[in-house]
Amino acid sequence: MRKKIVVGNWKMNNTVAESVELATEIAEKVGSGIIGCEVGIAPTFLALNEVGKVIEWSDILLTAQDCHYENDGAFTGEVSASMLAAAGCDFVILGHSERRQYFGDTSAIVNRKVKKALEEGLRVILCVGETLQERESGVTESVITGQVVEGLDGVSDISNLVIAYEPVWAIGTGKTATSAQADEVHASIRATVAGIYGAKAAEHLRIQYGGSVKPSNAVELFSMPNIDGGLIGGASLNVDDFMAIVNAAC
Ligand code: 13P
Repeated sequence: MRKKIVVGNWKMNNTVAESVELATEIAEKVGSGIIGCEVGIAPTFLALNEVGKVIEWSDILLTAQDCHYENDGAFTGEVSASMLAAAGCDFVILGHSERRQYFGDTSAIVNRKVKKALEEGLRVILCVGETLQERESGVTESVITGQVVEGLDGVSDISNLVIAYEPVWAIGTGKTATSAQADEVHASIRATVAGIYGAKAAEHLRIQYGGSVKPSNAVELFSMPNIDGGLIGGASLNVDDFMAIVNAAC
């Protein structure tokens, strides 16, 4: 039985003070000793240290939104996986569609980041997803398979990896993939992973859904056989909404 995992991706929202306030409230509600699922929050880089301090006593997993593929050097504006590990991060989100779309993260770059983050002992959430145009042209499966295969090229062990399926057309749009649409893609991701790593590894792999997850659709999405939790954007900025989604998974 796979443990569900819900992570709030705060994106470029909240000052350090606001992040600490939100994290404190979430930590009070999540607490420690949860067994049914895993819960993470991904504040801006700037707030990782302070948020790390206020959630340390709780079970919440400190998550970063991206990292560079080198450990250090002349890469102005970037943050490395080793820095995130030293700051106490458990997870890093890589290959988010906003990174692919606005910041030039190709699958080859995402792959380098995935390898570096795993090497540094971080757990990775690898995001994949098709655009509306790709879905309408009937190439969803091949696009997703390509992103999974390229993203994992040369990765020998996926036990510290989670995949997040986030259809680009469902992110921040209020349009959610139906639970059946999402589960179909999740099943195909699992089959792709089985082809590379074997049936047992694929069976253990958690695949989150992301894209307009709300308290009103979380229960149905999380009840699907291949949906193992969610990567939550907008709704994770509100404590009550986020906790309702967490409770749907746990
Ligand atoms: P929304 O939940 O705001 O659609 O964002 C999803 C997402 O991109 C999480 O990474």
